Amino acid sequence: MWEYYEGKVILITGGSGFLGTTLVYRILQKAPCSHIFLLYRRNLSNLRELWNQWLPEEIVLKMLDPKRVTILDGDITKPECGLLVSNINMLRDKVNIVVHCASSINLVHPLGRISQNIIGATEWLANFALQLTNLERFVYVSTAYTNTHLFHATPEGDVRVKEQIYQLSATPNVQLEWSEVQKKGSSVEYQSNNFPWAYAYAKQLTERLLYDIFSCTGSSHKLLILRPSIIGPAQKYPYPGFSFPLSTPMTIFTAATALWPTLWARISTRYERPETEATNDEVPVDVVVDRLLTHLAFGTTGPVHAVSGGHARQTCKGLSFSLSLSARRLIAPSKSTKYGTAWSGLEEEISWLGG
Ligand SMILES: NC(=O)c1ccc[n+]([C@@H]2O[C@H](COP(=O)([O-])OP(=O)(O)OC[C@H]3O[C@@H](n4cnc5c(N)ncnc54)[C@H](OP(=O)(O)O)[C@@H]3O)[C@@H](O)[C@H]2O)c1
Repeated sequence: MWEYYEGKVILITGGSGFLGTTLVYRILQKAPCSHIFLLYRRNLSNLRELWNQWLPEEIVLKMLDPKRVTILDGDITKPECGLLVSNINMLRDKVNIVVHCASSINLVHPLGRISQNIIGATEWLANFALQLTNLERFVYVSTAYTNTHLFHATPEGDVRVKEQIYQLSATPNVQLEWSEVQKKGSSVEYQSNNFPWAYAYAKQLTERLLYDIFSCTGSSHKLLILRPSIIGPAQKYPYPGFSFPLSTPMTIFTAATALWPTLWARISTRYERPETEATNDEVPVDVVVDRLLTHLAFGTTGPVHAVSGGHARQTCKGLSFSLSLSARRLIAPSKSTKYGTAWSGLEEEISWLGG
């Protein structure tokens, strides 16, 4: 499939993040593309310093080779993503593929605080991408947890989520809903559906907005939405175990369990024995990247999941939790309290814990 990338020019946002770094590494290692533009809000020396923390020097040198990679000043919370007009014009003529990974991954911030970062920036990028002279593909990195509100749909613990766009009301008007979020920092749809975090709703609304923008212009065949589950350390490349610990939720959870002095946990669940019945789906970052590049090259459209699947899921009492418990100097948490089956309240609880 690598031949698809021959001569292509790719614009990547979030290239300094965990997923984006792995993506840039893999493209440069395998794909014969002609150039990568990285939208980045800090400067070249910051990026070099960041990558040097996690990657060997010779790999960083290749990833910053100006013949193959150009860093462009940009901040997705600013108008036109903070790009200079001269850069916008240059990108318009050159870019074939846009991969939008940049995003807040904060699960605590309220909707009003993350909406421009997640929804507004993607709307601008999508409209910009549709003006490119030679746009072939637009890839949006969403999350497998966009449709967590569907837990109402089944009494079972695991909810089946299809690779489709889910509307939140019978008469959807996504543009009006987005305007409401911009004006009020919330929406009727957000308030009437039970999302665990504003982040999940923001990603859900972004998927619907993208679908609307691309289908209204007859360009749905260019849109790919990737929904990874919990992204974990690499299986193979750049090297086994490669990760950015603060972007690896299970690493944070494991470290917090080992270090946090709490003796109890409150959880929102419908399982009688969540420790052994509930599961976490963690997928290695390099597996997510290869799925992204494969679906992109083969022309898959709409949403696709990048998850580990039933066979690879861990229970809460599985390996990493047991390891972190054994690392505790304090005794193990003595009890867990069931907190009802709705998500509401959980956000406040995480916030209180300093999430
Ligand atoms: N991590 C997970 O478990 C997980 C699971 C499912 C989906 N995802 C999705 O995967 C994508 C990548 O996440 P990740 O794990 O790689 O997170 P990450 O390591 O936190 O990377 C986020 C990236 O977004 C950039 N970014 C954030 N705000 C920005 C701004 N205002 N302007 C420009 N760039 C900005 C960051 O740039 P800086 O380096 O400057 O901060 C960084 O490059 C996101 O869309 C996320 O929602 C992640």
